[in-house]
Amino acid sequence: MDHFLYRDGALYAEDVPVAEIAAAVGTPFYVYSTATLQRHFRLFDEALDGMDHLVCYAMKAASNQAILKTLAQMGAGMDVVSQGEYLRAKAAGVPGDKIVFSGVGKTSDEIRCALSGGIRQFNVESEPEMIVIDRVAQELGLIAPITIRVNPDVDAKTHAKIATGKSENKFGIPISRAKEVYALAASLPGLDVIGIDCHIGSQLTDLEPFRLAYEKISELTETLRAEGHNIRRLDLGGGLGIPYTRSNEAPPLPVEYGQLIKDTLGHLGCEIEIEPGRLIAGNAGLMVSEVIYVKSGEGRDFLIIDGAMNDLIRPAMYEAHHDIIPVIEAAPGVEQQPYDIVGPVCESGDTFAKQRNLTPMQPGDLVAFRSAGAYGAVMASEYNSRPLIPEVLVTGDQFAVIRERPSFDEMINRDTIPAWL
Ligand code: LLP
Repeated sequence: MDHFLYRDGALYAEDVPVAEIAAAVGTPFYVYSTATLQRHFRLFDEALDGMDHLVCYAMKAASNQAILKTLAQMGAGMDVVSQGEYLRAKAAGVPGDKIVFSGVGKTSDEIRCALSGGIRQFNVESEPEMIVIDRVAQELGLIAPITIRVNPDVDAKTHAKIATGKSENKFGIPISRAKEVYALAASLPGLDVIGIDCHIGSQLTDLEPFRLAYEKISELTETLRAEGHNIRRLDLGGGLGIPYTRSNEAPPLPVEYGQLIKDTLGHLGCEIEIEPGRLIAGNAGLMVSEVIYVKSGEGRDFLIIDGAMNDLIRPAMYEAHHDIIPVIEAAPGVEQQPYDIVGPVCESGDTFAKQRNLTPMQPGDLVAFRSAGAYGAVMASEYNSRPLIPEVLVTGDQFAVIRERPSFDEMINRDTIPAWL
């Protein structure tokens, strides 16, 4: 459920007409709904009710500070994967003891920054990384809290580019080697080994891979405890999928996911962390774009819009489907027609949808891409020298620009010309 609904034929973001935002900020832009972000966070938080837990929002999904603050005010922690994300979370007011640091290649600078600024834990991905964390902690005279990410070798049954839990993926240490890696960790004086971490992939639409992974984590917890490790925290990653279309079968709900966690891991008495990103932000955001031209091609009509693959890369990169809907609904009885919906960027990959049925469109009409709140704005680039598009946050009948559209000068003047030119 989200808060982007039609009223009298006009699409609203909560209580604000989307067309009103377009008139104020220009197109294309991203718009997020506070109520939807809050609702999704609460679903996870309530799903783990009765367990000692922290929901750490995977801020890679949508990292604007206004979004982070909205969630942090509800008690969310953050899952970060770079120094930039760490500093952004801190800037949004998230305390260090609610920030977990994931990612396969943390540099010593990143580790130093997070250790000195305060960190809940590092999710360690390899032995060499563990040794660097230990060294930096000793240099700073601190103890680094860590979990070790184990790769449980389960098939997440999702798009190959976002599956992470098979042994051929670059993530974590093989679960078969966990005993020796934990023994090494326990021998390093700069580390406090507090638990286990695992994340098997993104946009999972079935609970079974989670079950398989969490059963392995349960078994591993008992094995490691028997070896003398005080395993007291389990970070279970993110990955629960969202419905990208209204027609297809809905993925499992957070409450069902929470029940699975309780069933597989509840008996261990560990503190539970989860790192959802997409489910919190995905359906809390739209990308809104204007039709520039309607072009008749050979046997098909192209809707050429002012948003492009640099603004929303998911269709080009993952063949991802986003529902595309008119901001003003057609009058009743007007028949839909198929369009190829494309951006102005100079490559055929800049195609959002082929032969998608839509109400008849004219230049100047607005369309909204649903489910664009996660991995939308954060993956945008300035390809074709197109400035990054603005972000807007709505709450009730108010809206605010939370990232301005840079001017062309701002974009161009970031280049510096060497003296010899
Ligand atoms: N934790 C870790 C360690 C992760 O690598 C990820 C996502 C998450 C949590 C959050 O997963 P989520 O709950 O959002 O599924 N750009 C791709 C998705 C990449 C996901 C990367 N890791 C897309 O647009 O589909």
